[in-house]
Amino acid sequence: MNQPVESFLAADAGEQLKLQQGQRVGISRPHESAHLHVAGAAPYIDDLPELAGTLHAALGLSPVAHGTLLSIDLATLRAQPGVVGVFTAADIPGPNDCGPIIHDDPILADGTVRHVGQPVFAVIATSRDAARRAAALARQVLQIDALPPVLTAQEAHARAQYVVPPMRLARGDAATALASAPHRMQGSFRLGGQEQFYLEGQISYAIPQEDGGLLVHCSTQHPSEMQHVVAHALGLASHRVQVQCRRMGGGFGGKESQSALFACVAALAARALQRPVKLRPDRDDDMLITGRRHGFDFTYDVGFDGAGRVLGVTVEMLTNAGHSADLSPPVLTRALCHFDNAYWLPHVAMAGYCARTNTQSNTAFRGFGGPQGALAIEVILDSIARRLGQDALAVRQANFYGTTSNNVTPYEQVVEDNIIHPLVAQLAQRCDYSSRRAAITAFNAGSPVLKRGLALTPIKFGISFNVAHFNQAGALVHVYADGSVLVNHGGTEMGQGLNTKVAQVVAHELGIGFDRVRVTATDTQKVANTSATAASTGADLNGKAAQDAARQVRQRLAAHWAAQIGVDATTVRFANGQASGGGLQIAFDALVAQAYTARVQLWSDGFYATPGLHWNRETLKGKPFYYFAYGAACAEVIIDTLTGEHKVLRADVLHDVGRSLNPAIDIGQVEGAFIQGMGWLTMEELHWHPADGSKNAGKLLTHAPSTYKIPTANDCPAHFEVRLYDADNPADTIHRSKAVGEPPLLLPFSVFLAIRDAISATGGHQADPPLRAPATPEAVLDALDAVRAQAGAAA
Ligand code: MTE
Ligand code: MOS
Repeated sequence: MNQPVESFLAADAGEQLKLQQGQRVGISRPHESAHLHVAGAAPYIDDLPELAGTLHAALGLSPVAHGTLLSIDLATLRAQPGVVGVFTAADIPGPNDCGPIIHDDPILADGTVRHVGQPVFAVIATSRDAARRAAALARQVLQIDALPPVLTAQEAHARAQYVVPPMRLARGDAATALASAPHRMQGSFRLGGQEQFYLEGQISYAIPQEDGGLLVHCSTQHPSEMQHVVAHALGLASHRVQVQCRRMGGGFGGKESQSALFACVAALAARALQRPVKLRPDRDDDMLITGRRHGFDFTYDVGFDGAGRVLGVTVEMLTNAGHSADLSPPVLTRALCHFDNAYWLPHVAMAGYCARTNTQSNTAFRGFGGPQGALAIEVILDSIARRLGQDALAVRQANFYGTTSNNVTPYEQVVEDNIIHPLVAQLAQRCDYSSRRAAITAFNAGSPVLKRGLALTPIKFGISFNVAHFNQAGALVHVYADGSVLVNHGGTEMGQGLNTKVAQVVAHELGIGFDRVRVTATDTQKVANTSATAASTGADLNGKAAQDAARQVRQRLAAHWAAQIGVDATTVRFANGQASGGGLQIAFDALVAQAYTARVQLWSDGFYATPGLHWNRETLKGKPFYYFAYGAACAEVIIDTLTGEHKVLRADVLHDVGRSLNPAIDIGQVEGAFIQGMGWLTMEELHWHPADGSKNAGKLLTHAPSTYKIPTANDCPAHFEVRLYDADNPADTIHRSKAVGEPPLLLPFSVFLAIRDAISATGGHQADPPLRAPATPEAVLDALDAVRAQAGAAA
């Protein structure tokens, strides 16, 4: 894209002015690959030209949920047309493990099979079709002695079967507070999991390199971890394994750890056969093999006063980790650390359990447990409001964290940047919350079948990895002698616009146009020991690292030119493609060319580590977050009480991204997260065949888009207005911006609670609807039945 894009892409006059003044951040620049995406010219891994001799892998999956693996009929598999090799656990030279934290994740099943869909063997063939046909013989070639499976978290909990010991997070004396509270309520709430549904599925393409090395093209959020697990499984030093990822067609957490199995299998086969090997499971296999967002069961006991203020609360969180730990322990930690959401909970006692079951191993998904934990308190506050006959928004506001007192989280971090009060007030006013509440009451009074509901919910989301040492990043900035700039950083691009933001930061630092800066593929041979692009920290970490690198080059250029013209180097300014100082100007290109011949180093590395973080994994106390991101959303829905269907009529969002690096991209992230979260809470339903001894026992039945329903363009509210809250991040982040990737996934709590409100209207708001998530038509009808039954009992 060589057009002078800058001027016509700025969103409004304010951005135009910033551009003229030489700013390159805070500008609505399109995604760096947008022109390639829309033309189908952005290569994903399966689009890379295949090398001569490339072989294709397919995985043979366990047809049973739990059992002892007795034998694999390798001869039959090897005799299939096109088959070049078959690999099992026994062929893995190093440890048979690809677990990210706790080493309990076999690459290929060994001894025991742990869920329907677990990979047991890999077939390598001359074509993908041949490999898949052979792998599909799994049921025939595997001899497994079936054992009784444990399919639900409840069953596992009853047997105290967990992947890690139970976790506790408490502050104050919840029991005493409960006992003395004027009002008390007990209840439970269940929410389901969610499939990441990245459009590009899992894929790895491994290519042997000289002297025992390997290059793995992997669709992953975590190239360094892939390098590490491949090296570990193959018994190689990390320096022999190179992992590259230019872009993903979505990750959403599903490619943070779970790209590992595919990388390991492709690498194992490539190394053994000394041929390039590609592994691209089809969508059904992808969904049968990989895990997803954790479903949770909450049981609570809450004490409150007449204004709905929570005085004490206990909550038990039970989640299905699946067959291995994977990222479940940190997901549960984040759920525990987000149960407070935006609220001061003086006395709180939480317990969390990661149940081990015979299902896929659940993993990261946008929000990483945070959405689950925070939804629980929202449901509790909603129930409190109904019990007291008060408006739910007023009850929420009464519970907000204070700004100078009542501002310490249960994990002992002080909330120093609280903006929830003005933010919610602004949104409530903009969307006419009060008058619409009255209009909806009037509508419902005259509408027996269709009922409307309204809810306004706040969010507060902690930014940083809970594990302090993950909060680091590196970058390389190369300024070539012609004045063009290439940036490489440790983050990965999954559509979220990270590369665009990092390029803007570098352009801004060097005072040059966007078109002068390119960002290249993430590559373990460029920046070492990177963290996952996760926890929404991509731009915070890599933006700062790239700024550091660009600044060093700029300072060298300034020093060089200052010496030429006899001024103080610190007075040299870089903007709009020029350096200026001492009343003189020089074009950036000309200065670079000069500096090159003067033997000035024109490239630099950069590094960043988030300051001030500490965390005690045993006590779950500390300062895990550098700052918080805030937001609020108001949703209005209409339900059909005969069919259980609903429609979101209107959604208004006010979301805090600090001083946005790129408002267009940030608004896109907020819109996308809202719809994705709405899908999770209203329609995306996972269903496993029960353990009835039949052929399908324990199988995920919703393993394809035919049975697993994600939102489409039609589900977008007709009135959907997203605005960004106008404030700097008080923390010293990159240009005072805030992370945006995950927090807005919590905004559609408003949709779920608006549905609850509409159901509640059928019983005159007297009965609390026991609505589970997702609020599918079946779930809505069940809740309606329960409300009618309660109303009938009361009458
Ligand atoms: N946006 C797109 N388009 N695709 C994705 O896969 N992943 C989300 C979010 N937004 C995702 C996305 C998740 S789970 C995270 S943690 C962040 O992006 C990661 O990127 P960031 O840290 O650069 O925001
Ligand atoms: Mo996002 S769930 O942290 O990859």
